[in-house]
Amino acid sequence: MPDSAKKPAPPAPPAERLGILLQGMGAVASTFVAGVFAARRGLGRPVGSLTQLGHIRLGKRTDDRNPQIKDFAPLTPLEGLVFGGWDIFGGDLYEACATAEVLDSRLLEKLEDELRSVKPMAGAFDPAYVKRLNGTHVKPGNRRDWADALRADIRQFKADNGLERCVMVNCSSTEVYLELGPAHRSLAAFEAAIDANDTSISPAMLYAYAALKEGVPYANGTPSLAADIPALLELADELRIPVGGKDFKTGQTLMKTVLAPMFKARMLGVRGWFSTNILGNRDGEVLDEPENFKAKEMTKLGVLDTILQPGLHPELYGDLYHKVRINYYPPRGDAKEGWDNIDIFGWLGYPMQIKVDFLCRDSILAAPIVLDLALFLDLAHRAGRKGIQEWLSFYWKSPMTAPSVYAEHDLFIQLTKLKNNLRHMMGEDLITHLGTEYYEG
Ligand SMILES: NC(=O)c1ccc[n+]([C@@H]2O[C@H](COP(=O)([O-])OP(=O)(O)OC[C@H]3O[C@@H](n4cnc5c(N)ncnc54)[C@H](O)[C@@H]3O)[C@@H](O)[C@H]2O)c1
Repeated sequence: MPDSAKKPAPPAPPAERLGILLQGMGAVASTFVAGVFAARRGLGRPVGSLTQLGHIRLGKRTDDRNPQIKDFAPLTPLEGLVFGGWDIFGGDLYEACATAEVLDSRLLEKLEDELRSVKPMAGAFDPAYVKRLNGTHVKPGNRRDWADALRADIRQFKADNGLERCVMVNCSSTEVYLELGPAHRSLAAFEAAIDANDTSISPAMLYAYAALKEGVPYANGTPSLAADIPALLELADELRIPVGGKDFKTGQTLMKTVLAPMFKARMLGVRGWFSTNILGNRDGEVLDEPENFKAKEMTKLGVLDTILQPGLHPELYGDLYHKVRINYYPPRGDAKEGWDNIDIFGWLGYPMQIKVDFLCRDSILAAPIVLDLALFLDLAHRAGRKGIQEWLSFYWKSPMTAPSVYAEHDLFIQLTKLKNNLRHMMGEDLITHLGTEYYEG
């Protein structure tokens, strides 16, 4: 029998209403909220969301138990979600959707009243971190003022909406690349640095700090350095709050983490992998700035090494040349095009090429991830889990892990891990795929 004898206590029941706080209410956030409104009214389906459409097998294959994940795990239904958040530009979510130009205007008209009711609170912003934007709807004061104001916003949002539970998802612009510094290494140093208005404390860190201090699970959909610093992990541990990150795995990296495991599984060599993108939304504009692109480049480059393990297979992957580019090209808006040229080799070293041309829609791919992460992080919180939620690696380009282990990037291992964690949380046997000869016979 599989080793799931030690069964955990089941998660506490879901709240009827769950608040989802969005840091940054641009293309991804507005497409996500509009999509939930549309799905609630039967105007569209939440395609791409594992929590809404996925099933999970339980027990033996012969048991024929395959419930929907949303019926198996106690998750707040779409009807119970309440939205709030911050942006450095004012307006409301209807305007954000119109600016983003992701969704059809006929759909937006039907959702106008609901979308207009969600208005971003003023953002905590330091222009040094996002050089292309000039925020007009920003909090006054210094870092301590911003942290306190963000915390007050969370409390007010909960009170206004009668909420007991909230989750925060960072959907804000990518900040400039930042290395871990002295102020990030312990909670005491971090809090002292906030008081000193130390500029190495980024806005993204302040949102994560505010979330944790208010008991709100936090997910980082961007490459910015945020909860992935020792100071905030210490806080998450101390207050027993789940965190996850970072950088939603949506387009090109999603493809990469499917193709690379296949090369590795078949022991095919890879000599080079050239990835380039054209993208014309505000995210593309921000990433046109080299220091902001560097943060994205780091999360995009990381995946191949851990999947292919060149140290174990120097003859197949030791000379791999990996390059990633993002080009800002306004005519495309949110409809990104991602090209990959992959130079592989097979039997006796004979070369072959694969070309991938993914004409995707950035925010359409990211929106269901925001939904799943919010629901799963709240579940993790109710199940008593704290700190980094590695079982949600499935959703990240650069999954956060404990310092002692490497990140798992293979999409299908990540999915197996996610589902086994759900089974474990709900007291079901884990599925080992041993097969009929050993287990099911
Ligand atoms: N497929 C995807 O779309 C995808 C995938 C992975 C990661 N991401 C990341 O998600 C983030 C959002 O992407 P997007 O396309 O919605 O970008 P966007 O530019 O449309 O939205 C970001 C919003 O954040 C706001 N903002 C900037 N700094 C802020 C601050 N300090 N406080 C509050 N708001 C702030 C901006 O005004 C903007 O409205 C980006 O960092 C992007 O790299 C997106």
